[in-house]
Amino acid sequence: MKPLKIGIAGLGTVGAGVVKLLAAQKELIAARAGRPVMVTAISARDKSRDRGVKLDGLTWHDDALALAHDPEVEVVVELIGGSDGKAKALAEAAIAAGKHFVTANKALLAVHGVALARAAEANNVTIAYEAAVAGGIPVIKALREGLAANKVSRVAGILNGTCNYILTTMREDGRDFADVLADAQALGYAEADPSFDIDGVDAAHKLAILAGLAFGARIDFAKLHIEGIRRISAIDIAFAEELGYRIKLLGIAEQTEAGISLRVHPTMVPVEKPIAIVDGVFNAVLLEGDFSGPVFLRGRGAGEGPTASAVVADLIDIARNIRVPVWGMEESALEDLPITPTSELASAYFVRLSVVDEPGVLADVTAILRDHGISLESMIQHGRAPGEAVPIVLVTHDTKEAAVNAALAGIAALPAVLEPPALIRIEPK
Ligand code: NDP
Ligand code: HSE
Repeated sequence: MKPLKIGIAGLGTVGAGVVKLLAAQKELIAARAGRPVMVTAISARDKSRDRGVKLDGLTWHDDALALAHDPEVEVVVELIGGSDGKAKALAEAAIAAGKHFVTANKALLAVHGVALARAAEANNVTIAYEAAVAGGIPVIKALREGLAANKVSRVAGILNGTCNYILTTMREDGRDFADVLADAQALGYAEADPSFDIDGVDAAHKLAILAGLAFGARIDFAKLHIEGIRRISAIDIAFAEELGYRIKLLGIAEQTEAGISLRVHPTMVPVEKPIAIVDGVFNAVLLEGDFSGPVFLRGRGAGEGPTASAVVADLIDIARNIRVPVWGMEESALEDLPITPTSELASAYFVRLSVVDEPGVLADVTAILRDHGISLESMIQHGRAPGEAVPIVLVTHDTKEAAVNAALAGIAALPAVLEPPALIRIEPK
């Protein structure tokens, strides 16, 4: 049987993982693909680096763009990363040359995915990107194919393994943020620039992709509301435990009365919800289809093996000539939906203040909340430290975010409030 010939650009955690997996599961993959899947050419920056995989006999290209013009390459697999630069140039060149394009690059898809889909349609080739969202979880296939008959009203999930690993380890071992981030980098979970992980950008890239598929919409990445986990402290994690929540970085895309809302932020999730106990590098995605009902997927969200598994699944589909439109429908059928700003959304909130322990502080704080129509569900202050800093936690009833923001601006300006208030949204029970 004629093999499917692939060229791989990028031989880091994922690229080397793909080479390893293709060798280890050669017969199984040939059986599932109906023919062998064979690496013929490769490219990375440093030709001399030992990558722990056998690369003998493969054509090395100093410039990854040469893969697009190599007659021995039918499918270009881009595992470099980055929304622009070489990765984008390679996508465009491969598609223009009539080659299928497989990638794990969520930044590229989130920012340029619609234009690339248009080009792929014009050139009658496929773009496959299962590995771009939630590592080893086949969520693209689930959403684009398994739930194709549904209107999807909500997608919510833990979409960044690095952040989930950090939050879990901080909670379980009481270790410092920076120390745990270094572990996640050593394990190959983090992006080349780890601020993409901890500032929520990577999760937002993945959310934009899921939202595009779920709602059949062109998503403007610049319109997403993005908050990361830098400001989550050990004290917030401890208060969350006390109140019966776990702090998770969630990506949430949902239909609203006026359009759709797209946001990534730390969230207090009630411990009894399945997503609250998804820990470590695991990701989870909850999809709400109108006929299917809720579908919950959980698995490893980053790392060599899970990500390579997703890349190779795409290659097997291509070998079998299984083609699905990039966004689940032709690009011209996608809609431009209005984005509802977070200020218009309502939720319960966890607010932590650091205040001077002195008479009248709480009266000033609650007066501001009253003036903005905000009702409290509970309040915690432990111990006493007259004249010194103490943490106070306030939990609100459902409130419009615009009102909370306005109240917090007033509270932050009180002389007894020592730091900017910490604000975390609470998922309903
Ligand atoms: P790495 O940083 O480990 O590897 C990147 C590779 O790209 C390296 O081999 C590097 O070469 C090569 N490279 C960089 N610039 C160029 C260039 N200009 N031309 C050719 N090659 C280049 O990244 P990962 O493997 O972790 O990630 C790759 C992609 O997969 C990214 O899009 C990432 O977001 C995505 N991804 C990663 C996951 C993970 O768990 N790591 C999970 C899911 C997706 P050299 O080795 O010579 O320096
Ligand atoms: N840096 C990403 C994460 C890799 O930690 O989830 C998987 O996309």
